[in-house]
Amino acid sequence: MALSQDEMKKQVADAALEYVEPGMIVGIGTGSTANHFIDGLAKMKGKIDGTVASSEASAERLRGHGIEVMELNAAGNIPLYVDGADESNKYLHLIKGGGGALTREKIVAAASDKFVCIADESKLVDIMGKFPLPIEVIPMARSYVARQLVKLGGEPVYRDGFVTDNGNIILDVHNLEIMNPVELEEKLNNLVGVVTNGLFAMRPADVLLLGTQDGVKTIT
Ligand code: A5P
Repeated sequence: MALSQDEMKKQVADAALEYVEPGMIVGIGTGSTANHFIDGLAKMKGKIDGTVASSEASAERLRGHGIEVMELNAAGNIPLYVDGADESNKYLHLIKGGGGALTREKIVAAASDKFVCIADESKLVDIMGKFPLPIEVIPMARSYVARQLVKLGGEPVYRDGFVTDNGNIILDVHNLEIMNPVELEEKLNNLVGVVTNGLFAMRPADVLLLGTQDGVKTIT
C-alpha cells in the first residue's frame, strides 16, 4: 500500500535519529516533519545533552516530552541541526519558512556544523519558487519592501494575521522562478527592512533525507 505524505515524513524523521550521537546538543527545526523528529528524539532523550529550538512551538513540544531546551547563546556550536523544508533543489538549496520560523531556523542552521534536512519526496524540485518564498519583515517596512519585491519580479502577499516569534510580519512572494538562489538570497538580504528571507542557499543543507515510496533516499 502506498505511503501517505505524513508516513513519508515520519520515515525520514526516524532516519535522522541515526545522526544523533550521545552527549550532543541537537538543533531542532519547525513544522510537521520536525515534529516527528521531536517525538522520536523523546525515546532517546537520556542520551543527549539538550536541544536548541528554532521556534516557540518546537520548544513547547520538546518540553512536553521532558527534553531540555537551551538558549542558543548558552549552547555554543551545535553539532547537528535537523529540520524540514518547503522546497529543495538537487544542490540542497532550500526554501523554508512556510511555518513562519525562518529567522530562528536560519540562525540555528548557521550555528550548526551539520544540517540534516528531512522532507518527503514532493519537496524536491528542479527550479525553486513554486512555493511562495517567505520573507520576514519589520512591520513598518512592509509596504516599502513589498514594492521592492515587485521590482524584482515577485508578487508579495501579506500573511494576514500572522506575527513571527520575533514580532515581525511575513510577506510570501509568489511567481518567482529562482534560477540563482545564492544571488537572490543576497539581494533580498540587502533590502532595508528585511529581517530574513526563506532561501537557505548560502548555507544549504549538508544532507537531504528524502522520504519516498521506495524508502529513504540520502542526497549529499
Ligand atoms: C517552518 O518555518 C518551515 O521552514 C518548515 O521547515 C517547513 O515549512 C516544512 O514544514 P513541514 O515539515 O510541515 O512540511
